[in-house]
Amino acid sequence: MGSILDDGYRCSRPRLICFRYVMLLGFASINLVPKARGWSKEGHIMTCRIAQGLLEAEAAEAVKNLLPHNVEGDLSAFCIWADQIRHWYRYRWTSPLHFIDTPDDACSFVYSRDCHDPHGLKNMCVAGAIQNFTSQLSHYTQGTADRRYNMTEALLFLSHFMGDIHQPMHVGFTSDEGGNTIELRWFRHKSNLHHVWDREIILTALADYYDKDMDLLLQDIEGNFTDGIWSDDVSSWKHCNDDLQSCINKYAAESINIACKWGYKGVEAGETLSDDYFDSRMPIVMKRIAQGGVRLAMILNRVFSDTQQGFALPT
Ligand SMILES: *[C@@H]1O[C@H](CO)[C@@H](O)[C@H](O)[C@H]1NC(C)=O
Ligand SMILES: *[C@@H]1O[C@H](CO)[C@@H](O)[C@H](O)[C@H]1NC(C)=O
Ligand SMILES: *[C@@H]1O[C@H](CO)[C@@H](O)[C@H](O)[C@H]1NC(C)=O
Ligand SMILES: [Zn+2]
Repeated sequence: MGSILDDGYRCSRPRLICFRYVMLLGFASINLVPKARGWSKEGHIMTCRIAQGLLEAEAAEAVKNLLPHNVEGDLSAFCIWADQIRHWYRYRWTSPLHFIDTPDDACSFVYSRDCHDPHGLKNMCVAGAIQNFTSQLSHYTQGTADRRYNMTEALLFLSHFMGDIHQPMHVGFTSDEGGNTIELRWFRHKSNLHHVWDREIILTALADYYDKDMDLLLQDIEGNFTDGIWSDDVSSWKHCNDDLQSCINKYAAESINIACKWGYKGVEAGETLSDDYFDSRMPIVMKRIAQGGVRLAMILNRVFSDTQQGFALPT
């Protein structure tokens, strides 16, 4: 944002530039609408790129067939679709599917207690949504797809929500809306705790270490799980028996645990978070992106496999 505001003086210059400034400000304020709940664009894109790189042939083929043709099989191009449509009238029902509100300070996730929308409607949370869209997709290869369901949308929702469930503050406390109402400063600008985990840590990492180049960051993350600090952990990350529900519950529980231990801990509204917070939390954010990608690939490989290695899912 800084650079946009710094350019303000240009308004005394030719009208075209002034117009551009106003447009940029317009977009900037749209982006700043508070309470947006979504792993940043970058977080989602990286999660989906990682997953796509790990797809087996059958899953890669199914994904390619389901995606709109103009993206040439690039799943990451549509990973933020679910955030873009959530306020459209037709899709307003999807809004509670991006997160889970758990009881304040409980630091645990219990599906029957926590997975519902603000009105108490059961299963309407990110964990229920992942189960729902995985189940819809499993009918695609089985040739029993329910025509009420759009398989392309199911794929886009699943890919997006696997990112969200790995963002620790998407499984946060109820009263502060997953950190959204905890306003503070990130270095020198205003932010909130939810946003720090959605976006700020990733953007600061990109600026400080990767020349603002997401591909370089992605290569580093991939290097760290193929042949680096996490390579011994990958098989446990993607381990999942037939019971998908318990795997999803595990991902949500990991998130709320991290939110308690690393997200909320020691943070006071109004304070400034800077180097100490960034240095200690950045590795966690990167690991969650890696885990989200590895696990999304695991799910897609299983639902789209010809051999019967899918999940036992309710129909
Ligand atoms: C599952 O998806 C269908 C539409 O495809 C929707 O009507 C339903 O509310 C969804 N449920 C959950 C828990 O996501
Ligand atoms: C499925 O959903 C996508 C994305 O919303 C849309 O572009 C497409 O037309 C839909 N397909 C059908 C058959 O309704
Ligand atoms: C990858 O691992 C190296 C070596 O431990 C570490 O310095 C780096 O921050 C890690 N990168 C990411 C994106 O996690
Ligand atoms: Zn989201």
